[in-house]
Amino acid sequence: MDHFDFKQAPLYTTRYGMAFLGDSLDFLRQLPDASIDLIMTSPPFALKRKKEYGNVHATEYIDWFMDFALEFYRVLKDTGSLVVDIGGSWIPGQPTRSLYHFELISALSDRAGFHLAQEFFWYNPSKLPSPAEWVTVRRIRVKDAVNMVWWLSKTPHPKANNRRVLKPYSESMKKLLENGYKAKLRPSGHDISENFSKNNKGAIPANLLVLANTDSNGSYLRQCREQSIKPHPARFPHGLPEFFVQFLTDPGDVVLDPFAGSNVTGEVAENNERHWLAFELVERYLRTSRFRFPDEAQPAPLFDLYELEEAGFEEETKEAHQEMSREFFALVRALHEQFVQDNISMNDLSERFSLEENDVIELFKLLSLSVPDFPR
Ligand SMILES: C[S@@+](CC[C@H](N)C(=O)[O-])C[C@H]1O[C@@H](n2cnc3c(N)ncnc32)[C@H](O)[C@@H]1O
Repeated sequence: MDHFDFKQAPLYTTRYGMAFLGDSLDFLRQLPDASIDLIMTSPPFALKRKKEYGNVHATEYIDWFMDFALEFYRVLKDTGSLVVDIGGSWIPGQPTRSLYHFELISALSDRAGFHLAQEFFWYNPSKLPSPAEWVTVRRIRVKDAVNMVWWLSKTPHPKANNRRVLKPYSESMKKLLENGYKAKLRPSGHDISENFSKNNKGAIPANLLVLANTDSNGSYLRQCREQSIKPHPARFPHGLPEFFVQFLTDPGDVVLDPFAGSNVTGEVAENNERHWLAFELVERYLRTSRFRFPDEAQPAPLFDLYELEEAGFEEETKEAHQEMSREFFALVRALHEQFVQDNISMNDLSERFSLEENDVIELFKLLSLSVPDFPR
């Protein structure tokens, strides 16, 4: 990754990757031409903002996306791929669908020059029925549980190898391989040759990916739970980037997620020994995404910065608190214990530790926000 030279330091690094905080367009512009093997991403979706009606905003969304798309095209190698996971959208207030994701794919081809290598469908069986008004109340639409995943490429021949994403054979296919198959003409007239009984170490997958979004054992969700932090609301399951990382790249290749969110792509790339770059605009998402790399040297963040902000902490205080070490927290804990157990008044306590009474209160408030088991 030595050939990447960014003006800004990464928020964190791992053995294989670097995570940057800020507008992805700024970082993309700093990347050399033809330097990325795979862009795997789930962009922010259109029609999410309030007061958005009809398809007018779809056009705005596509214009917004095109600035990124042109950069994606430039930074991809000729053998590279762009994989975009994009959910459909309902037109607010009526039981009909927006066409924005179809318009987007059409613009990615017409305006940015991408080829559609293949479309995939991600079926999430654990998706809750929505929008409730049409699906569960009036019962005039069915559950919307499939996302389109567009696999685009810079040339008609991106690097790909389906042997790396084989699925285990079905039980009937395993039996057939064990017992052998006698070549014969099927009732349809279709001739199935002896090759059919050759063991290819797995079945070629279809373009329908069935993946429930129910990961709960990973270090990201565990640490979010432990630190009472709200996880990123739109994470994709590991299986999704994993399929494309394995299918479209080799170990040592570079994978980029320009809308990284909680950085599932980075985690998958790391585990598969691919280099990765993650760009994300929202600080709390990127900071907490570090939870995905528990073995890395940097300490995990102690606070949910978003909650600190909501609780009215000033920017300066926030930054100062970020620098504080765990030892400092141990000290504040001890202070609090004295306050509770020894029944020392706030006044005595602040005098004993040469602190303003208000500072002591702020410190306790901070600790109770950031440490779930802190006595209140
Ligand atoms: C759908 S989420 C991605 C979730 C991610 N795939 C995951 O599994 O956690 C889209 C992300 O894009 C981020 N985003 C939006 N505009 C951005 C920009 N201009 N630069 C970088 N990130 C941006 C949002 O903050 C959001 O976290």
